[in-house]
Amino acid sequence: MTKTLAVSGITRSFRGVKALVGVDLTVTSGAVLGLIGPNGAGKSTLVNIISGYDRPDTGTVTMDGVDVTRTDARTKARNGLARTFQHGHTYHGLSVRENIEVAALGTGRRRAEARRRATELMERLGIADRANQLAAALPHGTERRLGVARALAIEPRYLLLDEPAAGLNEGEIGEFGDVVRSIAAEGTGVLLIDHNIRLIMAVCDTIHVVVQGKSFLEGTPETVQRSEALAEAYLGRSGRAHDAA
Ligand SMILES: Nc1ncnc2c1ncn2[C@@H]1O[C@H](COP(=O)(O)OP(=O)(O)OP(=O)(O)O)[C@@H](O)[C@H]1O
Ligand SMILES: [Mg+2]
Repeated sequence: MTKTLAVSGITRSFRGVKALVGVDLTVTSGAVLGLIGPNGAGKSTLVNIISGYDRPDTGTVTMDGVDVTRTDARTKARNGLARTFQHGHTYHGLSVRENIEVAALGTGRRRAEARRRATELMERLGIADRANQLAAALPHGTERRLGVARALAIEPRYLLLDEPAAGLNEGEIGEFGDVVRSIAAEGTGVLLIDHNIRLIMAVCDTIHVVVQGKSFLEGTPETVQRSEALAEAYLGRSGRAHDAA
């Protein structure tokens, strides 16, 4: 049986504001699912719910068949569900290396193993030259990559990436795309949110579109790119097609 992280019928309101009104999607082990939608569509809210930082009003989240809808974030992380944050969430007073080591230690790795893992991950994310710099001093794009390294430190089975490539230049985005593919190739199921459509198209096996809190369309990159309904949904909302995701 293929292993999956599946969400079904998710709704969530914040004091009357309906952020999510019905999302169904499945992240499959070894594959990359892209999650796109206009600003305010509910993408980060969904990541918060899946990762246990928030709870849905209705709907379920299952991980390899086990209902984890109301499981807290820490337990989910220990069970192999990692995420990054759209806004920061690194320890500014710690170095790049220490940030990754702390993440590894937090899920029970021993010190030597955490250290080895940090070295490996800094290489992998292209941030080894910053090992001893404080996270507070990092450029935006580098801090995002540190966030991904921290998430990978727990050797997750599922990884949720909330706009990890923001602040990277085109060359760095290409390299980052290769890293995402390599993560999936190791068997991890990846959910990738990003506003860079070229990255999404290049990296994702399947793309899921949410519009105004609702699952709108899902398909291969080709199908989604060709969808007229999608173009209309974006144009209707922002007036600029390239503002997508
Ligand atoms: N904690 C909260 N309290 C109140 N409203 C919230 C909260 N979190 C999200 N919202 C609202 O829910 C809606 C969805 O927000 P969300 O951040 O999930 O969108 P998004 O798709 O991630 O957008 P972006 O692409 O800009 O990151 C927005 O209207 C937002 O203002
Ligand atoms: Mg967001």
